[in-house]
Amino acid sequence: MREVAIVGTGMTRFGELWDSSLRDMFAEAALAALKDAGASVLDAIYVGNMSAGGFVKQEHLGPLMADALGMSGVPAVRVESACASGGVALRTALFEVASGASDIVLAAGVEKMTDGADVTDVLAMAADQETEAYHGITFPGLYAMIARAHMEKHGTTEKDLAEVTVKNHRHGALNPKAQFRREVTVEQVLASSHVAEPLRLLHCSPVSDGAAAVLLCPLDRAKEFTKNPVKILASGMATSSLALADREDPAFLDAVHRSAERAYAMAGVGPGEIQVAEVHDCFSIAEICCTEALGLVERGRGGEAARSGDTALGGRIPVNTSGGLKSKGHPVGATGIAQAIEICDQLRGAAGDRQVKDAKIGLCQNMGGSGASSVVHILGRI
Ligand code: COA
Repeated sequence: MREVAIVGTGMTRFGELWDSSLRDMFAEAALAALKDAGASVLDAIYVGNMSAGGFVKQEHLGPLMADALGMSGVPAVRVESACASGGVALRTALFEVASGASDIVLAAGVEKMTDGADVTDVLAMAADQETEAYHGITFPGLYAMIARAHMEKHGTTEKDLAEVTVKNHRHGALNPKAQFRREVTVEQVLASSHVAEPLRLLHCSPVSDGAAAVLLCPLDRAKEFTKNPVKILASGMATSSLALADREDPAFLDAVHRSAERAYAMAGVGPGEIQVAEVHDCFSIAEICCTEALGLVERGRGGEAARSGDTALGGRIPVNTSGGLKSKGHPVGATGIAQAIEICDQLRGAAGDRQVKDAKIGLCQNMGGSGASSVVHILGRI
């Protein structure tokens, strides 16, 4: 397999983007990535998207988005793995370039969630219909059960959950692309209304619109496009049962663990060498479980890591320097690509006020549903 680099990145602001359609957002992010690399032709396009059919009644995104870029004729296809769609689009593009099938490939993600659809209902399609969604369970409800299991097993407290929110809003306040650029306090989190006990409004990622795109090419061609390419060291993916009740330990995200093990093996690095990470904090408990499953913090100590400042900017292993899904926003299909962009910015020394000093190796982890699919990428500075 050939070595592959990211040579261009682009994204929209995340938030309630009333003036932009699905197609507008995709074009804005994709054209920004092409401009960043000074590229004008593509061999293939992968569009990460969870459910444009459910949210805005638009399917068949491949040709739609190629046309929106003025590139009708280029092979283009949608990639779907619920909230991990963006990460899986990146993985698919990576292997297309690595295999030698194509040279210049765009991996993008897009979601338009605020156009009037019943968001909770559309998202619930990613849960097990027969044993979960049919009975009325929602994603906040599923993650509330994960939180309860973690609290019972490891003694995690509501205050620990709140600390994750406080940290990610602090980081997001420094990110011009973030949906919420305001800090919150532990007291405000604990006073916000319950959505699904023990999870409160301020433990949840919001409903968001947005798009993000990265441009990939073989590493040996990267300097044609940019002075500071980022090498993709590894991609690992794994799955677990769709239904939470079928997992041995609902507080341990086994697909996240397996996807990370595969990525660490491919990159030849261990969790101790990761200097900055973007993880899938769709709810604050998810960041706690993911950092543990990735081996970035000890099992059962995810809450303590947030409380102690270990996972904050300036801490031992800064997590979600972008503000995470919680504060930056979570337009589901775009999230995995936006995570990769934050890590690229960190490795290129372009993260501004959020910069982790001298970051050389970073990780991004994106998951679908209550953790039934997970994809991990490890990126390296050249
Ligand atoms: N974090 C912080 N503030 C939020 C917020 C969030 N997640 N969601 C909404 N708000 C704010 C809004 O900005 C608004 O503030 P304002 O009154 O100052 O304008 C206020 O709360 C009410 O917003 P509204 O849109 O009416 O909230 P809602 O009650 O309809 O939705 C949630 C709140 C938590 C239910 C919704 O954000 C949600 O469903 N989140 C989870 C999304 C999800 O499941 N994603 C997939 C994960 S697997």
